[in-house]
Amino acid sequence: MKKPVTHLGAALAALLLAVPVQGLADERITRLADVPEDFEFHPLPPGEGVDEVYYGCIACHSLRTVTNGGYSRRVWDELLDWMVEDQGMMDPEPDVREAMLHYLSTYIGEDWEG
Ligand code: HEC
Repeated sequence: MKKPVTHLGAALAALLLAVPVQGLADERITRLADVPEDFEFHPLPPGEGVDEVYYGCIACHSLRTVTNGGYSRRVWDELLDWMVEDQGMMDPEPDVREAMLHYLSTYIGEDWEG
C-alpha cells in the first residue's frame, strides 16, 4: 500500500527543492591572475575557509607559497602535518584544520592553474 503524502512531507519536499544550490553557479577562480587585487585575502582566491588559511599561514611565509600549491587533498593534508610537525605551525583545532583542508583542496586543489 502506498504511504499517503502528508502535508508535512509535501512541505519538506518543497523546502528541499527551494534550497538554492549555493556556489554552483559561481565561477570559481582558478588562476592567480584572476584574483582581484583588492580582495582582502589576496592572493588567495575567494572561498569558504579563506580567512582561516590567510591568518593561519601568513605568520611565517608569503601566501604565494600557498598559491604555488595546486595539490590534491591528500597532499595538502600531509603538508599541514609537515607544517605542524617540522615547521613550527601551531596545531590547529580540528574544525579549523578541516576548514583549512577543505579550502586548500577545493580552491587551490588539483585544478588550480596558479
Ligand atoms: C610556523 C611557521 C609556518 C606556518 C604557520 C605555516 N608554514 Fe608553511 N612553511 C613554513 C616554512 C619554514 C616553510 C619552508 C620549508 C622548507 O622549504 O624547508 C614552509 C613551506 C610551505 C610550503 C612550500 C612547501 C614546498 O614544497 O617547499 C607550503 C605549500 C606551505 N608552507 C603551506 C603552508 C600552509 C597552507 C600554511 C597554513 C595552513 C602554512 N604553510 C603555515 C613555515 C610555516
